[in-house]
Amino acid sequence: MHPLVRSVEYAVRGALPIRAEALSKQLQNGEKLGFDRVVFCNIGNPQQLNQKPITFFRQVASLCENPELLKAENRQLVEKLYPKDAIARAELLLKNIGSIGAYSHSKGIPFIRENVAKFIERRDGYPANPEHIFLTQGASSGVQTVLQILTQHNKCGIMIPIPQYPLYSATLSLVDAQPVPYYLNEKQNWGLNVDDLKKSVEESRAKGVDVRALVIINPGNPTGQCLSEENMREIIDFCHTEHLVLLADEVYQTNIYQPEQRPFHSFKKVLMSMGEKYQDQELFSFHSTSKGMIGECGRRGGYLECVNIDEQVLDQLYKIASISLCPNVHGQIMVDLMTNPPAEGDISHEQFKSENDAIYESLRRRATKLATCFNSLEGMTCNDAEGAMYLFPQIQIPEKAIEAAKEKNMAPDAFYAMAMLEATGVCVIPGTGFGQEPGTWHFRSTFLPEEHLFDSFCSAIEKFHQGFMDKYRA
Ligand SMILES: Cc1ncc(COP(=O)(O)O)c(C=O)c1O
Repeated sequence: MHPLVRSVEYAVRGALPIRAEALSKQLQNGEKLGFDRVVFCNIGNPQQLNQKPITFFRQVASLCENPELLKAENRQLVEKLYPKDAIARAELLLKNIGSIGAYSHSKGIPFIRENVAKFIERRDGYPANPEHIFLTQGASSGVQTVLQILTQHNKCGIMIPIPQYPLYSATLSLVDAQPVPYYLNEKQNWGLNVDDLKKSVEESRAKGVDVRALVIINPGNPTGQCLSEENMREIIDFCHTEHLVLLADEVYQTNIYQPEQRPFHSFKKVLMSMGEKYQDQELFSFHSTSKGMIGECGRRGGYLECVNIDEQVLDQLYKIASISLCPNVHGQIMVDLMTNPPAEGDISHEQFKSENDAIYESLRRRATKLATCFNSLEGMTCNDAEGAMYLFPQIQIPEKAIEAAKEKNMAPDAFYAMAMLEATGVCVIPGTGFGQEPGTWHFRSTFLPEEHLFDSFCSAIEKFHQGFMDKYRA
């Protein structure tokens, strides 16, 4: 086996989730544990925790899946079951796709890429070129491809935040390139200081690392912060001065819980607004159908927009995309729906809006509730989530627990998270999987468990935490 494969670590699907799967199987087999179900808070996978899919999206998807339903002989029946705009959208998509069982264009279906470009134009107020948009299998495959083309040898470095989403560190291990970490500031609500970026790039270059790009996750995962426009301008200026490509991971762009104080701005928009000087700044931005209020993670939809990228690089990207033939067509349909949902005046608009708003409001309430719960616990502090789907509290783990972890050859935060899983069935991921300031311990939990079960979810964690602290307190 290639040693690089062995070197990869991916905590979101690591030891904790593997144990959680085993516990879940035990429960399914009728075994009695101290809890009724395993709650998978290790991953932002809303429908795994019973979030209801958006009705319009599934209506269109199901009609595309079974075009027999659209035939004249079935029309009456279908019109009873589906609203007219869902039928019309499915017909339009199928006209442009043909069969969804066929390979599509390797960059994605041209009609859908045009719709994505129109969405970006509406969002940002600046033009987007459908030829510079690639539809991808979730954002992950776009990120992997871009990291692959940006890294040439093992002295190439890519700046990534700490804490980070492990897709970045894992992909860099696979392509044998170096992560160049910059730390987010926990005391300033996980804020990003451009002086830290400068320090990090200078130190790495002094060690001979060829630093090529900067990754920004906005809103942050696991940290949940949203960048201010001013901060984004500084970041773009930094990239421009240091000749770094900017990778903007914007998959949580609609998961914004303080829209007045902390609205979302895309890097594309901010870059475009900065005038002529910056119009050669290279940018890749990523979006996904897995997040937001959609949560269609399993459909693997996403897109990548390339801004100011040389045509020859785009040709190479196209070639690499062609090796996989095409992104899956179900995901592409979901991208069309995400970027082009029922508009005001459409038959389905009201239902779409009410479903979307209900999920959004509920996520916002659950984010606050879980942060309040964490902040009420002995030795735990937690920043609010301005965005995304996660909290990343810090825990002061008692010395005795650190010793007990050492005996088991585990990191203290992994020891804590494993104890929580065994006691409550709640699966979170230790901070070591994301990176953290040395000497600090964290874990990441989603706030996705169902709202009607949220109180009992919080009280299970409270009870466990108190027991853990009592057991290991000096
Ligand atoms: C910051 C970030 N980027 C990218 C992804 C990848 O998501 P997907 O490949 O499902 O679009 C995730 C998933 O959790 C994420 O949190």
